[in-house]
Amino acid sequence: MDKLVIEGAVPLHGTVRVSGAKNAALPILCASLLTDGVCTFRNVPRLRDVETMAALLRFMGADTDTTTSVVNVRAGSLRKPEAPYELVKQMRASVLVLGPLVARYGRARVSLPGGCAIGARPIDQHLKGLQAMGATITLDHGYVLAECATLKGATIHLDMATVTGTENLMMAAALARGRTQLVGAAREPEVEELARVLNKMGARIDGAGTDVIHIEGVDVLHPVDHAIIPDRIEAGTFMVAAAATGGDVLVEGVIPEHVEPTAAKLREAGVEVTREESGIRVRSPGGRGLRSVDITTAPHPGYPTDMQAQFMALMSLAQGTSVITESVFENRFMHVPELTRMGAEVEVHGGAAIVRGVESLSGAVVMATDLRASASLVIAGLIAAGETEVLRVYHLDRGYEAIETRLGPLGARIRRVRGAA
Ligand code: EPZ
Repeated sequence: MDKLVIEGAVPLHGTVRVSGAKNAALPILCASLLTDGVCTFRNVPRLRDVETMAALLRFMGADTDTTTSVVNVRAGSLRKPEAPYELVKQMRASVLVLGPLVARYGRARVSLPGGCAIGARPIDQHLKGLQAMGATITLDHGYVLAECATLKGATIHLDMATVTGTENLMMAAALARGRTQLVGAAREPEVEELARVLNKMGARIDGAGTDVIHIEGVDVLHPVDHAIIPDRIEAGTFMVAAAATGGDVLVEGVIPEHVEPTAAKLREAGVEVTREESGIRVRSPGGRGLRSVDITTAPHPGYPTDMQAQFMALMSLAQGTSVITESVFENRFMHVPELTRMGAEVEVHGGAAIVRGVESLSGAVVMATDLRASASLVIAGLIAAGETEVLRVYHLDRGYEAIETRLGPLGARIRRVRGAA
């Protein structure tokens, strides 16, 4: 298990280019299960989660390799439409094979994802939607067995705007007989991107990006060649790192609208965020020069829960007190005890964290617990006095491509120690 060693506090300067979006790449790789022939995906991020998804596709019998950011997938005839516990336990997003497999093969056996560091994260909405389209669902020894000769269009009311739930049901409905309406659908840019790819494959989807999506099922989908959108959460993380360190950074290749919820909160805190030809520029007076700001996470276009932890690191030095309310996941404050070890003043009361800005943070050995919590510890290390060691960075590698090689050129004193802990 690698660790990162960071020598704070250095203002970040320069330009960093955003990678392809993890949370778009994962469902899009699953969309290749809906067709014969070879799908080509470009700008695919080089991440552990992408590796895991590719391993799952290969386990089922597909051909694919992820040695570069151009990934070809041939998922014509699968050996077995099954997602085993060994892979699903590594990555919950593996559940995204469920909809495509039932739609294409009439059956799927997928390990039920267990609990997760940030919350219980059930998949009841995914299953409810498939049942509404005519699938029989049985739970057997920790596995979901879904079967249906031909899925039929249905109107599905989602109890919450679930991202992967919307994506799973959209993929299933694309090959169902008749019309499906997803009411209360998630509006995330990654959902829109998946619909874009499916429509390029011959699907008939309208309304993606709104809370009502219409899908007219078709008989066949054909292969596609598609370049994946940039990662708004990776971009947001770089923007917050620049703001926290009092830097001046151009984040290139980002789609401005996708990061607007984060940019708006940065501006409220006193950070200058401007659109430039090739991206978004962030100029900031740094921690103590910033105002405290309250945030409440919510589904898109609300403030993203995947940017909550990073913003808390920023607020740990801001003038005043900020209230950070996590409304999407019930247990997403695992970074708080670690930030407290670095001198942050944070009190958690249920779903809200009260952050009192302090004069400074001090470097310490801290433990990553989940993907975005680890990003917040890296940002805290960038602004702390002295040395910080972030352990268990395998969490970070799930969603950031070699982050030390992206922050280093911006002036960060950061290095990876392989096999350290
Ligand atoms: C996606 O997870 C993202 N993952 C998450 O990003 C992100 O945090 C989340 O959406 C919210 O934006 C991917 O896209 C691969 P949800 P997902 O279903 O789809 C409850 C990261 O850091 N719920 O929208 O699993 C659920 O428990 C990751 O990159 C049900 O109760 O999230 C949660 O409280 C972490 N029943 C809420 O809805 C269901 O059937 C939102 O979850 C489905 C969800």
